[in-house]
Amino acid sequence: MKAGHRKWMLLVAVVVAAAAGAQAVEITKGPYFVEITTDGVTVCWEVDAESTGTLEYGPSEGEMRKVSTGEFEALHKVRISGLEAGTTYYYRVSEGEAASEMNQFRTLPAQGAFTFVAYGDTRSNPGSHTLVTEAIRERAPAFVLHTGDLVGYGYEDSLWGKEFFAPAKKLLANAAVFAVPGNHEEESANYYKYFGASSGKPWYSFDCVNAHFTMLDSCLDLEPGSEQYEWLAKDLAATDKRWRFVAFHHPLYSSGAHLSEVGIRNAIEPVLQANNVDMVFVGHDHHYERTLPIASAFGEVHPITHVVTGGGGAPTRPVAGDFFTARCLSELNYCVVTVDGESCEFSAYDVEGHKIDKLVIVKSGEGYANGYPGKTAPMELAQVEGMAQEALGWRNIDLTVKVRKIDEEYEFTAPAWGDVTLDIRWEPAERRLAVEPEQMTVQIEAGKTAKAAFVIKVKEGDTNAPRAVVKGQTKIGEFDFAVTPFSVKRPI
Ligand SMILES: [Fe+2]
Ligand SMILES: [Fe+2]
Repeated sequence: MKAGHRKWMLLVAVVVAAAAGAQAVEITKGPYFVEITTDGVTVCWEVDAESTGTLEYGPSEGEMRKVSTGEFEALHKVRISGLEAGTTYYYRVSEGEAASEMNQFRTLPAQGAFTFVAYGDTRSNPGSHTLVTEAIRERAPAFVLHTGDLVGYGYEDSLWGKEFFAPAKKLLANAAVFAVPGNHEEESANYYKYFGASSGKPWYSFDCVNAHFTMLDSCLDLEPGSEQYEWLAKDLAATDKRWRFVAFHHPLYSSGAHLSEVGIRNAIEPVLQANNVDMVFVGHDHHYERTLPIASAFGEVHPITHVVTGGGGAPTRPVAGDFFTARCLSELNYCVVTVDGESCEFSAYDVEGHKIDKLVIVKSGEGYANGYPGKTAPMELAQVEGMAQEALGWRNIDLTVKVRKIDEEYEFTAPAWGDVTLDIRWEPAERRLAVEPEQMTVQIEAGKTAKAAFVIKVKEGDTNAPRAVVKGQTKIGEFDFAVTPFSVKRPI
């Protein structure tokens, strides 16, 4: 072979290899948006190789600006600023030969009415998550709040595409997301890579028109004195917005499988009340539940409506309802909230488009109007219920250990304001560990402590934990809940 010919062949080989390399780059996640404001947004997309990408955007398809990511990286995050408020922009991202469709995003409005969506728990069933995101798209929200548990296991790279980005692709292409992590994200680097705030902290807040949104990480410490708590108190105290919404993962009030998160509730409920928070959006439990406004039986406390909206695709679970429940349903669901000056119109929907709940709150001057809060539920009753839930506790029963009889003792403390009567029944069921006695009534005097002893008997073939159905009575009302306070560790 002549030298010239050999050189030419080599050149062809290099060009072919380069072309093959370029073609191999594919956009695997997004484009999606984070940290949208009235004048800026961060556009993100991920490719399957380290590469340089391009973002084109503009107010019309004929007036596009081009920004190169200028770096070899797999996840591109391009911050654009200097945009007009409440304005629609066309955009497209490209990576070598690969390009997204021409899509649109809209900056947050500076005035007027706006609509946002809240949903959560999108893990584990991509088909169901797709149905929910398709339904949300039809509402054309200004932005979407995600209350956590985006994927089944945050450390597993492949789940981010499969369970979150692919099912939500069309929604994410046009609506910015403000997310918080759930327990399933496990504080993994993946969550922070895709949705971490640019402040570098897991918590953050933002404003839209006359509303303030505070986003917390309920998987991290929220006790008074913790860094997050101190930030929360300062953040809420600093806002002068009429409407205050707070979102995080674990419910302060839930009558579903996980019940209320008593520890987090004790830690942050006072600061939410003291700063006139209107609504709290959470997930974790896979159902829909709106509480009555939670207030006090003994004094003036700012009422707060709590909404569990963990119906974004994860397996739905039963919900029992409790004294604080205004509406509950075990369905895939999402919430739509339209804030228009002094009015806040809240609706919840199932994936077939049926409106499953509605609440209108009018807030004028210093207080609420239009009859809100109306009937409220006392937080003190929830505190007594929380005491009973915590006392029943939780422990592992290791069936590999040859234990046939386990003695348990529970200690219940009544509040200073009144006596408490607890009726505890252990539900019999096949292959469940037996608890004796099966039924017990515990009387606790105001301010005093009472003990109740149970024996757990393990028989051959028992593989399931027992369920306790508890009814409580106090002078300010009654409550009931069911809890499975043990988990059974199966033989290996
Ligand atoms: Fe969940
Ligand atoms: Fe969760």
